[in-house]
Amino acid sequence: MSEAELVRRAVEARSKAYAPYSGFAVGAALLTKDGRVFTGCNVENASYGLTVCAERVALFKAVSEGVREFRALAVACGQGPCAPCGACRQVLYEFAPDLLLILADGEGKAWETVRLSELLPRGFGPKELGR
Ligand code: THU
Repeated sequence: MSEAELVRRAVEARSKAYAPYSGFAVGAALLTKDGRVFTGCNVENASYGLTVCAERVALFKAVSEGVREFRALAVACGQGPCAPCGACRQVLYEFAPDLLLILADGEGKAWETVRLSELLPRGFGPKELGR
């Protein structure tokens, strides 16, 4: 699947964002090793701290369907590309320490790519626990 198509899926997912408090909509599209795509959007809550980011929604959807191997994650948000928050970096690192991240603006007009390993160097993962 092309970067452009995965970005398109992230932009589509962004339209489902539930973000009445921040007004900041985010969409994510996670490409699995076997070519499937799991999407997610941010889901906010009146108890603000319970909000879940788009990236984690996409990842948890995939893992809960039995998928643990990933190729790339496209994220669409804001005026310009933004990178996953620290919590999401850690959660993604568990399954794909070198995941390709495709960071796009909210409309998917422009994007850049970066590896998760660059955003989370020396991350703490299963290896540290001997797994
Ligand atoms: N958010 C994400 O969904 N992903 C990120 O990587 C950064 C932040 C959401 C959480 C919250 O709903 C809103 O953006 C503002 O922080």
